[in-house]
Amino acid sequence: MTTAYRNLFRLDGRTALVTGSSRGIGAAIAKGLAAFGAKVVVHGQAPESTQSTCEAILEAGGACVAVHGDLAAPGAGRDLIRQAEEAEGLLDILVINASAQINGTLDTVTDEDFATQVNVNLRSTVEMLQACLPGMAERGWGRVVNIGSINQLRPKGIVAIYAATKAAQHNLIQSLARDYAPKGVLLNTLAPGLIDTDRNAPRRDADPEGWAAYVRQLNWMGRAGHVDEMVGAAVLLASDACSFMTGEAIVLSGGY
Ligand SMILES: NC(=O)c1ccc[n+]([C@@H]2O[C@H](COP(=O)([O-])OP(=O)(O)OC[C@H]3O[C@@H](n4cnc5c(N)ncnc54)[C@H](OP(=O)(O)O)[C@@H]3O)[C@@H](O)[C@H]2O)c1
Repeated sequence: MTTAYRNLFRLDGRTALVTGSSRGIGAAIAKGLAAFGAKVVVHGQAPESTQSTCEAILEAGGACVAVHGDLAAPGAGRDLIRQAEEAEGLLDILVINASAQINGTLDTVTDEDFATQVNVNLRSTVEMLQACLPGMAERGWGRVVNIGSINQLRPKGIVAIYAATKAAQHNLIQSLARDYAPKGVLLNTLAPGLIDTDRNAPRRDADPEGWAAYVRQLNWMGRAGHVDEMVGAAVLLASDACSFMTGEAIVLSGGY
């Protein structure tokens, strides 16, 4: 039995697509899944973007291929699943990580900003799930790890549209979790708080002192999270270790 416990988090023989894994949280999760034995399909918008993640996985002895594409266009989510399955075989694990975030108060939101966030964050999610859930169900095993945000639970005006798409995404995960639970396909959300990535660089670089003060009061740990701190929960949600958990959200926020 101890040996079985030891293997709970192993992903050998599993194939995983991590969207938006060229950098940031997605890159850390892709490397983490590969370290636990998964074959990983790394994704970024352009071919050159995925190089560093792939090199890191291969150097560490892992297996990966890369696929590319902007998820804003209609059909892009379905196309990405097709590309991934052609490249690496049928998917066992889907990590929905790529997202668009355009900050601004409600009066500044343009039709274009609205459409970009809804299309990348929600429409492509629906398309990817349509494309891979039936196959996972047929094979009797699947894991979907949706990367949400603290903003889906504790929203604020400056990210109102982004937060609404994240809340809708998790709601979708819950609906489908119920339908797919009897079929061995489990869907959960990992909701990060503030994590130090490129996404926050413009605000951080514009006012480093103001940013440091903001971060100190943001959560109980008084700091931003590191991308590597997202990996443990992602591996849990992608593995056999979460066999009795579906439709839930794990919040990794440093205490909020
Ligand atoms: N960082 C945070 O504080 C934070 C907090 C809460 C939740 N999150 C969530 O965590 C996830 C990752 O965030 P991050 O901070 O690691 O992001 P990031 O550093 O900004 O990286 C974004 C990733 O998404 C890809 N991407 C962006 N727009 C895309 C599009 N239109 N089509 C396809 N791919 C696209 C990028 O690809 P390219 O490299 O090719 O551009 C990149 O791989 C997101 O879902 C985000 O909402 C982040």
